[in-house]
Amino acid sequence: MSDNLFICQLTDLDDPGSRGFSVDLDGTVIEGFIVLRDGEFFAYQNKCPHTGSPLDWVEHQFLDLDLAHIQCAVHDARFDIETGLCISGPCPGASLNKLNFEQRDEALYLKPTGATQSVKP
Ligand code: FES
Repeated sequence: MSDNLFICQLTDLDDPGSRGFSVDLDGTVIEGFIVLRDGEFFAYQNKCPHTGSPLDWVEHQFLDLDLAHIQCAVHDARFDIETGLCISGPCPGASLNKLNFEQRDEALYLKPTGATQSVKP
């Protein structure tokens, strides 16, 4: 795996917290974000299933004020952190696209293929 798939260091996120990233995967730019909650990481594409818009208006801010759900800043949809499923807002039942990633050397890296997953450090 090449270094350009680096997402972030494990210490770049608070728990709970979130962080956006952009990686170049064979010439295709992948925009995504990581959420850390209770020591477990989750990765999603930064694309709301409602309109296809990015979810964040503030850099690295993908969680609601309670830090309990992923929030789309455009029309206030809320998503379950573990599953990416929309639980309220204009697109109930729709899901964020999970991204595959792995943990190596205290950092997270995007995986181009394979099953979706979460990682406990
Ligand atoms: S674009 Fe995300 S809720 Fe409408």
